[in-house]
Amino acid sequence: MPISLFNEKRPILVTCPKALPPLLAAEMAALGLPGRELAAGVLTQGDMADCMRLNLRLRTGHRVLLELARLAAPDPAALAEEMGRIAWEELIPADGHLTVDCSVKNEHVRDARFVNQKAKDAIVDRILARMGKRPDSGPDPVGAALFLHWRDDALTVYLDTTGAPLSRRGYRKMPHKAPLQETLAAGIVLAMKFDADAGHFLSPMCGSGTLAIEAALIALNRAPGLLRSGFAFQHVLGFDPARYAELRREASQAAKKHYAGRIIASDIDPEAVAAARQNARTAGVEEHIEFQVADFRESLVPEPLPDGATGVCVLNPEYGARLGDSPRLEPVYAAIGDFFKQRLAGWRGFLFTGNPELAKRVGLKPRRKTPFFNAKIECRLLEYELYQGMRRPQPETPDETGGKPAAPQGLKGPKGLNELKNSNDHKSPRSSNGPRPQGRPTDRNSQKGPKR
Ligand SMILES: C[S@@+](CC[C@H](N)C(=O)[O-])C[C@H]1O[C@@H](n2cnc3c(N)ncnc32)[C@H](O)[C@@H]1O
Repeated sequence: MPISLFNEKRPILVTCPKALPPLLAAEMAALGLPGRELAAGVLTQGDMADCMRLNLRLRTGHRVLLELARLAAPDPAALAEEMGRIAWEELIPADGHLTVDCSVKNEHVRDARFVNQKAKDAIVDRILARMGKRPDSGPDPVGAALFLHWRDDALTVYLDTTGAPLSRRGYRKMPHKAPLQETLAAGIVLAMKFDADAGHFLSPMCGSGTLAIEAALIALNRAPGLLRSGFAFQHVLGFDPARYAELRREASQAAKKHYAGRIIASDIDPEAVAAARQNARTAGVEEHIEFQVADFRESLVPEPLPDGATGVCVLNPEYGARLGDSPRLEPVYAAIGDFFKQRLAGWRGFLFTGNPELAKRVGLKPRRKTPFFNAKIECRLLEYELYQGMRRPQPETPDETGGKPAAPQGLKGPKGLNELKNSNDHKSPRSSNGPRPQGRPTDRNSQKGPKR
């Protein structure tokens, strides 16, 4: 069976973490490739050049899979036979490297690695028979890559045009503690509706800086794929380096040099701020982010922009699953509510957490709850519209999952009230441009990055 990849449209499956398909589908539609949302991916149609563009531009996708064949294979012997009938010598260089990965549910298979091995053997044996040489192989995607989706006897064979997943942008050399995956962080920023005109971006618990870095990449319309050292499609026979160079050029030209708002990343831990700064440097956005060592309560809140735009603030505190424990974290969540009310009136505040009980301690009613998964932990991005003064919140829009509405808003609830009393509420709250309170932590790393 010959393979013709370069001049015909085929199904393209872009995979992503659960809950991200709506954001991924929106990204793909904006690139002219609308698709159908699946549980953990989006299906569209396109050719190899489309795959290259998706790899370069997507922020929330993991892998771009180009469909090669749909086969019937009831058991591993049939799979090997079918795989041996495809003209792999037209696609995979005999002196190259091949990685095969799969997702399988078949009654004859207990270990997916067995399927990878069986398929790989059939492919390299065929290439050896025709070319007199066989490619190297192994699990590290350093060359051409294939992905098999096998359910009962339905086998779909994909060319994995990506290789190492797109979440590995290449900038996070310093992970620090409990970092968010880059793809998830980009999804959070997109769900916040932060874009080129959204005002300032504050990340006052920045950790390794992932949210602020993804925000900077989005604000500047920088294609994350330009940061990577390479993709699997570059190792396929027929790869067109001139077309790839053109697509890279197009992506670079679409990027902006400046962003009107300020992007501020701070953390109480100087090591986190150092890691965030280093990662931002690797990502090429250090000069667009201002870094500060500070408790979030004392973090920098800039003046609105001349057009009156304030901005967004996102906090990703520990939520007790991987670090810390709930009793220790309850006052932190309560203080987040205080911070939002006292310092961010007129802004949009966001909390990303996997602990709904702790989230109630914020004591404000979320306007919207967007579901996410951080690895296997179900999380929510909670949005708070922070009105001037203590205005009553608008009626809540339904949970986007269709789930239950938020817990009763805590401003008046006994628990919330008690917690607020114990917090900074009574310590002469400071407006965004008010004087520094006594005892503010030394802002050692505070530094203005961008030249405006
Ligand atoms: C879950 S991590 C954030 C991870 C981050 N989103 C990333 O991708 O790397 C929580 C961060 O909050 C910081 N933190 C904890 N308490 C803080 C406080 N009172 N003020 C500022 N930062 C704080 C911690 O130092 C840690 O870096």
